[in-house]
Amino acid sequence: MQLFSRLFNKQNSDLKESLIDPNNIPAHIAIIMDGNGRWAKKRKLPKIIGHREGSSVLKKIVAHCDKLGVKYLTVYAFSTENWSRPKGEVEGLMSLLLEKLKNAETELGGEAVRIRVIGNVNGLSQDIQNEIKRVEKSTSKNEGIILNIAINYGGRDDIVHAAKELINDVEMGKINIEQITEEKFSEKLYTKGLPDPDLLIRTSGEKRLSNYLLWQLAYAEFWYTEALWPDFKAEHVEEAILEYQKRNRRYGGV
Ligand code: IPE
Ligand code: IPE
Ligand code: MG
Repeated sequence: MQLFSRLFNKQNSDLKESLIDPNNIPAHIAIIMDGNGRWAKKRKLPKIIGHREGSSVLKKIVAHCDKLGVKYLTVYAFSTENWSRPKGEVEGLMSLLLEKLKNAETELGGEAVRIRVIGNVNGLSQDIQNEIKRVEKSTSKNEGIILNIAINYGGRDDIVHAAKELINDVEMGKINIEQITEEKFSEKLYTKGLPDPDLLIRTSGEKRLSNYLLWQLAYAEFWYTEALWPDFKAEHVEEAILEYQKRNRRYGGV
């Protein structure tokens, strides 16, 4: 009995939901899901097992964010630099992505989740592009959290791509140079229509951006954890939000 109550109390104290201020939930959370390789290495398992384990974590994080009132979650799944990894790993990651997208409605999101992909989608295989189109369409009418998956995404590529689109609009006579503002620029980014992230979470103890959402993270609060992505839990999201709620966001003012 004592053991039972100790276990029960432990479980309860892990979730800090009741301490979270429901009126100050970050509307948009961005996550750099890092540490799959180290998770596998620690267990002497092939790296792809780490990626697979990592990919299975996402669904409950999405559901918990939705429950807490987060409106947008943007996760880094594959960067423009990740192509430089060994061929076998890239192929493994691509087939895992294809499999997850095929079953995205059940394996990545719940019933209400809207799934979208950001990044240079044209650089992905036709199979993956078709699945992206399919899943974006099939979840577009849902009304819950928006899950953006960044695939073949790079912050610099995002900015260069936006600049090219604007130049094209200028050349076509749709706008003139003086009309280019930060707002107009944002509308050409892969994240168009989304507010900038309020909170950035990076797992595995690394403290760098690795070319993620360079423009969009201008005023985000950063939160890091030593936890490797396959070990990441709903409790970590709560810890991050509690810490976020203690921050004083000044935006350059007083
Ligand atoms: C993150 O895990 C997933 C991707 C970058 C695709 P890593 O594969 O980077 O894991 P570590 O950093 O080697 O532990
Ligand atoms: C960032 O992680 C990319 C993703 C999580 C998809 P990396 O593991 O690729 O970043 P670096 O190489 O440690 O900077
Ligand atoms: Mg890494």
